[in-house]
Amino acid sequence: MSYHLGLIGYPIKHSLSPWIHQQFLNQTGLKGTYDLFEFQPDQDFSNDLDQLKEKNIHGFNVTVPYKEKIIHHLDALDHNAKAMGAVNTVYNRNGEWIGYNTDGIGYVRSLLNKFPQLEREKEKRILLIGAGGAARGIYYALMIFGFSSIDIANRTLQSARNIAHLRLNHVDTNVISLQKAETDLYEYDIIIQTTSVGMKPNIDHTIIHLSKVKTGCIVSDIVYQPIKTKFLTEAEKLGASIHFGHTMLLYQAQAASEIWTFKKAKLNNLDQKLERKWRGE
Ligand code: ATR
Repeated sequence: MSYHLGLIGYPIKHSLSPWIHQQFLNQTGLKGTYDLFEFQPDQDFSNDLDQLKEKNIHGFNVTVPYKEKIIHHLDALDHNAKAMGAVNTVYNRNGEWIGYNTDGIGYVRSLLNKFPQLEREKEKRILLIGAGGAARGIYYALMIFGFSSIDIANRTLQSARNIAHLRLNHVDTNVISLQKAETDLYEYDIIIQTTSVGMKPNIDHTIIHLSKVKTGCIVSDIVYQPIKTKFLTEAEKLGASIHFGHTMLLYQAQAASEIWTFKKAKLNNLDQKLERKWRGE
């Protein structure tokens, strides 16, 4: 059998997903293709999906601007996608389209891969900075993986409160301002930056000052343009261990390919390879 997989979104011409998924297929010894379906936002989305259904695709990823819009066209959602209100992976289960969301899971897998000791340290105090879609996925996945102390800092407190409404019973969450995060930074063991601040062309910006960061703290940034943001550079200078959050892309792809093929691809040195591709080498 040969898997027929792909990605819907716009614009996606430069997506690295076909390359990533081809590596996974090769590595797990499966045959298949991963195609890009660039649906123009001004086209009839239902019609585009009908055509995709006719192709009898096994599964596909969903990216902007369709992560929410796709929901009404699916037969069921898993608990992650339900909690997120967004879908990044669809599996065709005997003609039924089931929606999943592997974004947050991908992030936490990448974090645990770099810092495996965290598997035994789920009580570590986490500060999540930002309250957009990415923060929502990461907050939920951190809870599902068992972490129990996750504060959320954001410029707009109401957005952070909306995320905190997802809180599960085993978790403590305070919603705080960016100013409070900055002054109380030494209280945290893991700091996760999920906003777009620091992204090209504004590479000299950081969301908060890090001067109060605890030595040995883990500092992570999901911005990947540039790969090493000013936030990470400063954190490293102050004695923190840094994590390139963009590796979440590989792990969310890994989780998606597991849903489609029931096989877990090993990542080996794919993150270094991906980084070289990013740099255009
Ligand atoms: P995504 O879905 O990719 O996470 P988003 O929904 O646009 O992106 O969320 C952007 C996040 O970055 C929000 O937390 C936003 O803060 P607000 O909720 O206050 O808007 C944050 N953000 C973006 N630019 C910012 C800036 N210049 N200063 C502070 N926070 C910023």
